[in-house]
Amino acid sequence: MRLNGKVAIVTGAGQGIGREIALCLAREGARIAVIDVTDKAFTVADEIKLLNGDSVAIKCDVTNWQEINNMVNDVVGKFGRIDVLVNNAGIRGPRSFITEIKEEEWDEVIAVNLKGPFLVTKAVLPVMIKQKKGKIINISSIAGMISGLFGALPYSASKAGLVGFTRSLAVEVGSYGINVNAICPGFIATEMSLGKVDKGGHTVDFDIFRNEVPLKREGKPEDIANLVAFLASDDANYITGQIIVCDGGWTLRLVGQHPVKFYNNR
Ligand SMILES: NC(=O)c1ccc[n+]([C@@H]2O[C@H](COP(=O)([O-])OP(=O)(O)OC[C@H]3O[C@@H](n4cnc5c(N)ncnc54)[C@H](O)[C@@H]3O)[C@@H](O)[C@H]2O)c1
Repeated sequence: MRLNGKVAIVTGAGQGIGREIALCLAREGARIAVIDVTDKAFTVADEIKLLNGDSVAIKCDVTNWQEINNMVNDVVGKFGRIDVLVNNAGIRGPRSFITEIKEEEWDEVIAVNLKGPFLVTKAVLPVMIKQKKGKIINISSIAGMISGLFGALPYSASKAGLVGFTRSLAVEVGSYGINVNAICPGFIATEMSLGKVDKGGHTVDFDIFRNEVPLKREGKPEDIANLVAFLASDDANYITGQIIVCDGGWTLRLVGQHPVKFYNNR
């Protein structure tokens, strides 16, 4: 087990990718603070206990500084340290053309997806700096790195912001022994990507994505969780400031089409 004795905070861990990250890190031996704005945090913390792991569930909104401070104090009070922070909580936001997006919709997406990681990191860092060691892993998206998504302007902007945040923070805190990296998932099958929790009630046709992705399948939450476990472990001690795409090769699809075109034209 690569994370024996470590303590990890995972935000947005009540479902989807965050839940799988929490379970995966627990299987690797970490004690987990399961953080979510909903009561689902308690269910996931119970799942970890069923795996004979140690966990605490804390209901906390990552946009609320007071709640975040209380949460960090509770985690340190219970476990005594914080080795890993996974900034995973995120929302998809409106699927609208720019002129249709309301100012408050823009603000909400930026608040959860970009200000949230800033606030939680700001609260956790003094603990990691004191320890002179820590791993921060931000869950961005290919929407903020390589390809934009049509009708996801605030989402793409927030995730691109998280990429800049990751690189700058890695430079600022490297001398304290703290590694900061970001993961850009491609299309991962969760409630967010399936649109079940989308206010507009949209759903996604998985077959379109399966055909476009070189590995011919959608991603699973485990695909991201396994990468988080690696980045959180000592195996990744010399990796920092990196933006790691985990998308089954989806963002290579334009490159992959070139040879086909070339041969067809001959
Ligand atoms: N699913 C994908 O295809 C995909 C692709 C790229 C990136 N991502 C990113 O991965 C992360 C997880 O996505 P998911 O698909 O599991 O989403 P999801 O909607 O299934 O789960 C998100 C979780 O975050 C929680 N949350 C939302 N707002 C919060 C807040 N203010 N404070 C605390 N918790 C909050 C929700 O309650 C939920 O449990 C997100 O940051 C998302 O942008 C997902």
